[in-house]
Amino acid sequence: MSIIISPSLLSVDFLELKTELERLNTVDDLWLHLDIMDSHFVPNLTFGEPVLNKIKTISKHKLDAHFMVTNPDFFVENFKSVGLHNFTFHWEAVTHHDRLIQKIKEHYPSVGISLNPSTPVSLVPNYIWSKVDLVLLMSVNPGFGGQKFIPEIVDKVIELDQIRHTHNLNFQIQVDGGINEQNAGYLIQAGANNLVAGSYIFSEPHKNYSDRIQKIR
Ligand code: DX5
Ligand code: ZN
Repeated sequence: MSIIISPSLLSVDFLELKTELERLNTVDDLWLHLDIMDSHFVPNLTFGEPVLNKIKTISKHKLDAHFMVTNPDFFVENFKSVGLHNFTFHWEAVTHHDRLIQKIKEHYPSVGISLNPSTPVSLVPNYIWSKVDLVLLMSVNPGFGGQKFIPEIVDKVIELDQIRHTHNLNFQIQVDGGINEQNAGYLIQAGANNLVAGSYIFSEPHKNYSDRIQKIR
């Protein structure tokens, strides 16, 4: 499986958004990770559909939306026109998972489920695995950029990779939170193929993002 790096816009200089998106357009094979927070599922609040519509006009990358929201069902409808590639919702936020997955599939090419650090992989019933395109394992508690990576998440990556092999599936394993050039290597060895990184990429002092992205790869 190819390795996808997904820069998280959360750490970008929002006053320079257009320029920053153009900088990212100089790098190939990225997803653009968009953290949608509702100040309810997580304490923080970010951006919504009007901002994403503008981002879409500039970025050449696939838009990867991570919904840290209590009611993802609303956003399935609300974001239909944005042209998202992937729609990830949090397992913990939802009661009727299967129904929501089906609904997302009607409007988006890729559907993801996300597990908080404290949510065990075993909480997801086996019949779900074949229905998703991506599983996002949070390696920090969601809500903020710039937090410290929780190393125990590597065991969850290994467990998920085994599930993928056992069921002969090819969903992506994405890891999000505290990713840098130190931990990327062993996450990929453990089975992750899609790494989200915010502060590590955007804190590059010369804004040479391709260098940091290449280091993660
Ligand atoms: C955290 C978000 C992440 C965050 C990652 O809740 O889901 O996508 O932006 O930022 P870093 O890489 O700084 O941990
Ligand atoms: Zn995220």
